[in-house]
Amino acid sequence: MLLVNIKDLVGIEEKGLLLKRGKEMSKTGRIKNAFLLTKGKKIVDYGSMQSDACKRYLAENHRIVDLKGSLVMPAFCDSHTHLVYANSRELEFVDKIKGLSYEEIAKRGGGILNSAKATAAASEDALYEMAMQRLDEVMRMGTGAIEIKSGYGLTTENELKMLRVIRRLKNDSPLTIKSNFLGAHGIPMEYRGRQEEYVDLVINEMIPLVAAEDLADFIDVFCDQGFFTCEDTERILMAGIKYGMRPKIHANEMAVSGGVQVGVKYGAISVDHLEQMGQAEIESLKGSETMPTVLPGCAFFLNLPLSPARDMINAGLPVAMASDFNPGTSPSGNMQLILSMACIRYRLTPEEALNATTLNTAYAMGVSDELGSITRGKVANLIVTQPMTQLEFMPYYYGANKVAKMMLNGKFV
Ligand code: NIG
Ligand code: FE
Repeated sequence: MLLVNIKDLVGIEEKGLLLKRGKEMSKTGRIKNAFLLTKGKKIVDYGSMQSDACKRYLAENHRIVDLKGSLVMPAFCDSHTHLVYANSRELEFVDKIKGLSYEEIAKRGGGILNSAKATAAASEDALYEMAMQRLDEVMRMGTGAIEIKSGYGLTTENELKMLRVIRRLKNDSPLTIKSNFLGAHGIPMEYRGRQEEYVDLVINEMIPLVAAEDLADFIDVFCDQGFFTCEDTERILMAGIKYGMRPKIHANEMAVSGGVQVGVKYGAISVDHLEQMGQAEIESLKGSETMPTVLPGCAFFLNLPLSPARDMINAGLPVAMASDFNPGTSPSGNMQLILSMACIRYRLTPEEALNATTLNTAYAMGVSDELGSITRGKVANLIVTQPMTQLEFMPYYYGANKVAKMMLNGKFV
């Protein structure tokens, strides 16, 4: 397929970098008045409409799609979501407005345990149908690849149920999906005061069964004040690694908890949230392979302090930004909004925000060799926008859906 008259082709990565750090984040290849050629699932070539290559392709027998006035950019990769869930939690939302904190709601059995109750009551088919609908919704807003966690099961049976739903989504959806086992998301009521025994259950029973069915690409822990300790986290990560799951953890949302350092120590592909960061946390990430991942939707929804994304980039680190789509702390999977918040609330430039939500999130879910940028040989997962002037309009015109069409695996969907 030959896409022609693209107003601004953005997100080009010529060198094939798998992530961008520090100053590199402010760079993205851009071609005004461009073409892009795909073959099967892949991007074959791109360049200026004026180039000889373009003239040659125009003379060949390709299906030509005229995109006059539209931008083309890589589809968003959303590297952190809890998109499989059974119930919404708008009454807790009202409690929060009235002054209760997220931790207070969790302590009285709300929050994650509220969702766990609803998940236990829902059938695998019902969870699948709800999740499929949400996948369709986020795809229409620009997401082409997504990571999905378990963590609303909190029993062996229900964690497996959630992961089997994710496996079915992987098979049936045009989106690229990675699964993450988050058995250590909350401490079930019956384990209160016996947290170590729940950690033992995760390690000795859940992880081996998850691995036996090959249900998880990653292993996650909610390592934070009031949830799992650094010691719990180390034990769980070691067990997951033994079974081939790469760590990818929740850290430093409520407190400077040591979670970032634990993630780095165990080679986590990403450490996520990072609202509470000191200089030591930033230092620990330097020279590591761990992607610091900020979740602007969660900080917005819970009125949390903002993660120091700007400082991390200035310190030479990479930064990724994902939605955290979940019913408790970020009931939205709209990555266009994340792009806007990256600029408005975290002071990233539009180019930095683009890299944070495409290439760097692709890295944070282990797919940046295939997705996350306009690169020859990569999979053609593309956003075709509504007619607009240039990339900068995308974060600027916040709140509206500016996606006109999605191409996934080389096909318009
Ligand atoms: O990433 N912080 C931990 N877990 C989720 C929230 C889950 C929930 O409240 O349902 C998060 O914000
Ligand atoms: Fe999360």
